[in-house]
Amino acid sequence: MKRVVFNQKGGVGKTSITCNLAAIGAAMGLRTLVVDLDVQGNTTHYLVGEIDAEAYPAEAQGVAAMFKQTVRSRKMASNPDAFVWETPYENLYLMPSSPALTTMEKELESRYKIYKLRDALEKLDEEYDRIYIDTPPNFNFYSKSALIAADTVVIPFDCDSFARQSLYSLMDNIVELQEDHNPDLEVEGIIINQFNSQARLPGELVAELEEEGMPVFNTYLNTSVKMKESHREHRPLIDLAPSHKLTGQYLELHEELEATVARIAA
Ligand SMILES: Nc1ncnc2c1ncn2[C@@H]1O[C@H](COP(=O)(O)OP(=O)(O)OP(=O)(O)O)[C@@H](O)[C@H]1O
Ligand SMILES: [Mg+2]
Repeated sequence: MKRVVFNQKGGVGKTSITCNLAAIGAAMGLRTLVVDLDVQGNTTHYLVGEIDAEAYPAEAQGVAAMFKQTVRSRKMASNPDAFVWETPYENLYLMPSSPALTTMEKELESRYKIYKLRDALEKLDEEYDRIYIDTPPNFNFYSKSALIAADTVVIPFDCDSFARQSLYSLMDNIVELQEDHNPDLEVEGIIINQFNSQARLPGELVAELEEEGMPVFNTYLNTSVKMKESHREHRPLIDLAPSHKLTGQYLELHEELEATVARIAA
């Protein structure tokens, strides 16, 4: 089961949602892989802290090394597991990002490597119960690769009116990608993040989305300083603050998402 977390708008919560849902699944015993396709490397940093650049030069790191191998050998990495790292958390594994992704992008695009991630993750899908893919805030080679590789997509929405505008172009992009590359990609739904129930605007925005028939998850994620602390400490919420309100919301959201997995498997 491969799920991509995508919104081309920056700062909506892609990384927070990817890492926290993955960590919850792992804590529940699901063997879980997180793939960090964003050159910013926030997911990598969140889950394993600073990378020792001497031990792991940029082009030797996870996802970049895997893509590099496809350029060199013209075929998919025979053992994509070689690019996966352990994390401090049981059942939670990471294919880290790397600064090399930026310099590689043009070459990967011009050599038409857009299906290589799908091939690699298809192999890994047999070894992991859940694969989560974090994406950059762009509709670029990497996010397209992820949408082609994934079974489902979830879309974080951060409750501002610009986010709403970008949601429409995002939906258009996804429909086009489904038509051209991945007709089986399922849009699981929109995740309401940084919800503030005291303010009027967020509630109105979400109600409008629902009226328009957008698939919005029932569980909303509140704004909480705990999230920043969690990033700073490199500890997902389920580890840092298992009984916090936001963690509870994440657990509920995770349950909603598991329903999709059950439906797809049926
Ligand atoms: N529920 C929340 N409450 C408070 N802060 C949050 C919450 N979710 C995310 N944030 C904060 O918002 C910022 C952006 O979150 P995050 O990095 O997850 O977004 P992103 O979509 O991955 O960003 P980018 O597009 O840059 O990759 C971070 O500082 C994070 O700590
Ligand atoms: Mg991010």
